[in-house]
Amino acid sequence: MAKPKTVYSCTECGGQSPKWQGQCPQCGTWNTLVESLAAPAGTRFESVSGAQSKVTPLSAVEAQENRRIASGLEEFDRVLGGGLVAGGVVLLGGDPGIGKSTLLLQASAALGAAHRTLYVTGEESADQIALRAQRLGLVNAPVELLAEVRLEAIVAAIDATHPEIVVIDSIQTVYTDALASAPGSVAQVRECAAQMTRLAKQRGVIVLFVGHVTKEGAIAGPRVLEHNVDTVLYFEGDPHSSFRLIRAIKNRFGAANELGVFAMTERGLRGVTNPSAIFLSQHADPVPGSAIVATLEGSRPLLVEIQALVDPVQGAMPRRLAVGLDAQRLALLLAVLHRHGGVDTAGFDVFVNAVGGVRIQEPAVDLAVLLAVQSSLRNKPLQSKLIVFGEVGLAGEIRPVQRGQERIREAAKLGFKTVMLPSANRPRAPIDDVAIIPVDRVDAAIDYLRK
Ligand code: TYD
Ligand code: MG
Repeated sequence: MAKPKTVYSCTECGGQSPKWQGQCPQCGTWNTLVESLAAPAGTRFESVSGAQSKVTPLSAVEAQENRRIASGLEEFDRVLGGGLVAGGVVLLGGDPGIGKSTLLLQASAALGAAHRTLYVTGEESADQIALRAQRLGLVNAPVELLAEVRLEAIVAAIDATHPEIVVIDSIQTVYTDALASAPGSVAQVRECAAQMTRLAKQRGVIVLFVGHVTKEGAIAGPRVLEHNVDTVLYFEGDPHSSFRLIRAIKNRFGAANELGVFAMTERGLRGVTNPSAIFLSQHADPVPGSAIVATLEGSRPLLVEIQALVDPVQGAMPRRLAVGLDAQRLALLLAVLHRHGGVDTAGFDVFVNAVGGVRIQEPAVDLAVLLAVQSSLRNKPLQSKLIVFGEVGLAGEIRPVQRGQERIREAAKLGFKTVMLPSANRPRAPIDDVAIIPVDRVDAAIDYLRK
């Protein structure tokens, strides 16, 4: 077979050029030409539905409920939105060593019992996988293994064995003969993923890709795939603790931002059913600089301790550092605290941290950050068993957040006695054993602490 022709196309404007150049001749941007296949139009990209598409009124289309295949790992199913969907393509990204291969081997083993599963490994040899399976107690698991990195050979194996589920660990190691670029390059990753995605859609096979996140992220990392796949999951968590979080960044078959919580144990990943407890540190007595927020991750409320340390400035410039929270937002909150709360932090370094390696993006954490900062600055602990949530606006107002009731209930369930919240989130009926402190403005919240 003649080798397919390749061209270099610009990732910015789509212009093509027969040779690689530093600058795109069409739009003039630098370093954007990427090798890709030049095939006659109309053959390479078939429509997903296969047959000729016709125009249909929306009302005439019968929506079918996606049949879910449960992976047997409850927390993994939760982030997937209830399980895998036939023809669905999932990308699982994360730092090296965080547990991607472990998770997918465990899932494959559980799925293999009822659905034919092929685990393609390009990073480790079959021996290494067997060793891991031994450690996980899965030596006799009904999983088929293929140690292969050539796309054409992988597709041939899929044709020969007709698996229902294919795991590709990792997409960065796979290459196609059609392109001359090295495995792991943007061109190879994109082309191989596109071909596997087409295969998934046409045959209803479920494909799970493992993708590495490089420090540079956007370039050779799996980011280029995010648009093509149905579901993007990211593993996060502090590598020094045993807890691992999986977050759905995008999900065509379920809610995004859903969170799954695992613990890495001697024998693989174990789902954590009551995750709130792990993001709280155990202080015998209340300590200054600590506030607990009821945050919402996907459909689930989580209690997370926010710690702040406010210390006289050590260098020429005051430092503001946020771990697990947005550093820009911290600067903004300190400005609001100054203007509307009358608390000046100009002469202080401010460090804040979300305990347990969790990353909190929602603004409901704002009020907790302010209280933790104020508490550290005054070296006075907040009252014990207090939960805080609420968004802070630039005008010094405390804005309501979504699903306040659920947050209060989670707090009550874990034995918290007092909840400080935006007035608009005040529960209509009193809740047993829980005192409510509604606040409208930053100064009111700060005043409360001064009492
Ligand atoms: P791995 O799944 O190989 O990570 P990735 O595929 O994301 O690179 O996980 C590797 C880490 O997990 C490694 O540091 C060892 C640890 N681990 C355990 O703690 N317990 C286990 O049962 C297994 C299989 C791995
Ligand atoms: Mg791996």
